Amino acid sequence: MNNLIVLGAQWGDEGKGKLVDLLSDRFDVVIRYQGGHNAGHTIIIGDRKFVLKLIPSGILHPGKSAVIGNGLVVDPIALVTEIDALESAGVDVSRQLRISNRAHVLLPFHRLMERLSEANPGKVSIGTTSRGIGPCYEDKVGRRGIRFGDFVRFESFDEIYDALRDEKIAILKAFGLFERFDDRAERDRFRQIAERLSPLVCDTASLLDQGIRSGKRLLFEGAQGTMLDIDHGTYPFVTSSSSTAGGACIGTGVPPNKITGVVGICKAYITRVGGGPFPTELTDAVGEHIRKRGNEFGAVTGRPRRCGWFDVPLLRYSALINGFDSLVITKLDVLDDLDEIPVCVKYQVDGKTIENMPESSEELAKVKPIFESVPGWKSPTFGISEYEKLPAKARAYLAYLEKVTGVEAGCISTGPERTQTIIRKGSRFEKLLA
Ligand code: IMP
Repeated sequence: MNNLIVLGAQWGDEGKGKLVDLLSDRFDVVIRYQGGHNAGHTIIIGDRKFVLKLIPSGILHPGKSAVIGNGLVVDPIALVTEIDALESAGVDVSRQLRISNRAHVLLPFHRLMERLSEANPGKVSIGTTSRGIGPCYEDKVGRRGIRFGDFVRFESFDEIYDALRDEKIAILKAFGLFERFDDRAERDRFRQIAERLSPLVCDTASLLDQGIRSGKRLLFEGAQGTMLDIDHGTYPFVTSSSSTAGGACIGTGVPPNKITGVVGICKAYITRVGGGPFPTELTDAVGEHIRKRGNEFGAVTGRPRRCGWFDVPLLRYSALINGFDSLVITKLDVLDDLDEIPVCVKYQVDGKTIENMPESSEELAKVKPIFESVPGWKSPTFGISEYEKLPAKARAYLAYLEKVTGVEAGCISTGPERTQTIIRKGSRFEKLLA
């Protein structure tokens, strides 16, 4: 049995897309367990570019299965757009993709509700991706959501859709934001999409159980990152789902004792998109340099990412919550021409030194990072695929990160291509792939 969870250890955008794509060859099924089309990565194969926001990238590997688990909120229009692009490139979507009948359906009025909530002057702005993710999860937890099982059973879809629509219209009217729309046309459009998606919808928990029993290897792909987790992240500046390792069980129905390993992906520095505290943020020319060199612009919204130095208290909390067996450190090459690399090892708040991340975002916004500096290597690491070929000071930086985080750096990424990757010999990471 070898069922692995791969997830972001920081605030998302750590480079999961490349890693999952790289590992997909060694697994039979790739599964998403939370989030929606707020995530996204671009995968280039030959001269074709695929932007996948909902469908696990494993689908690009012929013969591999891709599963959208029950923990997701799925915009059917966004899903069909991805399916169309994949089918036109010859991918056998009908054979390879399955959608949980317990996943929730995200509808256009969820986006409207989000606009309303983000524009509310009395509420702190989260800087969401404006995809309606939060309001759809609100309906799920409020027990009035529409699940894919209902979506493809037309009688139940109509009934629940009408109830949900009436509620949203009442709210929009109360705020003077209601705009008339062609309700019948919209419902018909969703009915057609439901008919098309129906053969892909099933009980994916049972499907995965059968897979495990027959010796298939499962790769769980987290979206967003640990610090955006609804419980463990920098609340309220978080997404609305469980992006941490525990979410993989909740969001798929695969029990914890069937998971064999957890791998955290982090950048050699750190980035964040959207609002919220960010202790090591660089607002100077160095931050700008990292943003440019690392092409740090959001894959979904195109927003510039906020950049900062590696944050050890944050990463240690992330390791504690997720139980990382190994870290994948990405974008090492972005730091290639720096004289020195500060690493935040502790925080200072109200004259006291603390080693752990505070629970409150207000307090996190007040902390001052305490840095230790590590010498830069000032030579190119771009594309290096053997650990021994890295400059000695780059290896020293990685060894330093291992020491201060307490987790091995089992894999290093030195560029966007699959080949620009180092898998450390003898590491736990290597063993998890065996
Ligand atoms: P939402 O997920 O659209 O509700 O946005 C909530 C917060 O999570 C915002 O700060 C977003 O910028 C952030 N976020 C959501 N998805 C991603 C992602 O895939 N990468 C990085 N940040 C994300």
